Amino acid sequence: MTLFIYYLYMNILKLKNKKISFFEIIKLFRMGGYCTVYKGIYNGAIVAKKVFDTHSSEYQKKSYLNNKSCRNKDNRNLYMREIEIWNKIKGHPFILQFYGASHISKHPFIISEFCSKGTVKRYLEKNIISTNQKLQIMHDIAIGIYHLHKCKIIHGDIKSDNVLISDNGTPKICDFGLSVYLSNDPKDELISICEITDSTPWKAPELFNEYNINKLNANSINKFRIIKGKISEYSDIFSLGRLYYEIIAQDNPFHEIMYKPEVEKKVVNGDYPNRVYPKNGVNNDILYSDKMWNEILVRTWEYDPFSRIKLLSIASILNQMKTQEPNVR
Ligand SMILES: Nc1ncnc2c1ncn2[C@@H]1O[C@H](COP(=O)(O)OP(=O)(O)O)[C@@H](O)[C@H]1O
Ligand SMILES: [Mg+2]
Repeated sequence: MTLFIYYLYMNILKLKNKKISFFEIIKLFRMGGYCTVYKGIYNGAIVAKKVFDTHSSEYQKKSYLNNKSCRNKDNRNLYMREIEIWNKIKGHPFILQFYGASHISKHPFIISEFCSKGTVKRYLEKNIISTNQKLQIMHDIAIGIYHLHKCKIIHGDIKSDNVLISDNGTPKICDFGLSVYLSNDPKDELISICEITDSTPWKAPELFNEYNINKLNANSINKFRIIKGKISEYSDIFSLGRLYYEIIAQDNPFHEIMYKPEVEKKVVNGDYPNRVYPKNGVNNDILYSDKMWNEILVRTWEYDPFSRIKLLSIASILNQMKTQEPNVR
C-alpha cells in the first residue's frame, strides 16, 4: 500500500479541511475505556484507526499515572508517546505497520495496518492451529521483539492481547502505549509501569519495589541499579515467556488465582505459573515438553534479569522444534 503520513507536526487534514472524508469507517472494531479502534478504508486500502478519547476518565487516569512514572515530567500526552515511538520503527514483517497519525485533531488518532484475525489470544480461541504454526508464531514474535530492541525500543507490555494476527497468519506486535525509546537522555525514561497496566502476571519481578536484590550474584548486583524498577530488554524477554505460556495453556498465567494481590506476591517472589500439561493425558506434543518448559519458558523467567535467555537463542530453539511438515503457515 502506498504510504501516507499525516506527519506529526503538520496537520494536513486540518489544512485541507476534510477531516474525516479521507477515512471511511467500515466497522467499529473495538471500543475501549480510553480509545476506540475502527476498521476503515483509506485510499482504497483497509486500515485500522485508533482514536484516543482524551476526555474519558480512563484516559485521564492513564495519563496521570504515565506522567507520574516518567522521569521526564513534561506532561507529554499519552498518545504522543505512542505516535513518536511507533513512528521510529522501521518497517518489519512482525510489527504492526504504522502509516500515520494526527496529534492535533480534536480526537488524536493513529492509522495502521489492519489485522483481520484479531489478537493472538482470539485467533487461538477461534481456530484450530497446528503445533508447527504455534511454534512459527512464537518464533516470529521473538524476532519482532529483537527488531524493536535493535531500534532501541522497549515494548513494555508484551502479552497476547498486544500481538495481532494478519490475514496470512503472521503475528504483528502492536500497542506501543507503554513503550520506551532508549535515548541517551536519562530524563526520558519510564521508571515504573507497575501502576499503569493491569498486566501483573506478565511483568518481571524487578519492576516491583519488593524485588529482592540479595538473590542476585555480585556481578548482577552492580549492573542491576541501571534497570531497577524500569522496563528493559530483559523485562520484555520475561513477558515474552508469559505470552508463550498463554499460547501453550490457552489461558492467562496464574489464571487459577482469583485474588490479585496473591498473583502479585507470586510474581515478585519469582514463582512460575503452574506447568501446563495436555488436557487428554499422554501427548508427545513438543509444546508441553520438558524442553519447551525448561529450555525456554523457565529461562525467560530467571529471577536475575541478566541470566535470562536471549531472543535469538529462543528463536533458534523454536526453529529446531518444528517438525518437517510443509505449510507451516
Ligand atoms: N490494527 C489493528 N487491527 C485489528 N485490531 C486491532 C488493531 N489495533 C488494535 N486492534 C484491537 O484493539 C485492541 C486494543 O488496541 P491496543 O493498541 O492494544 O490498545 P490498548 O492500549 O487499548 O490496549 C487490540 O487488542 C485489538 O483487539
Ligand atoms: Mg493493548
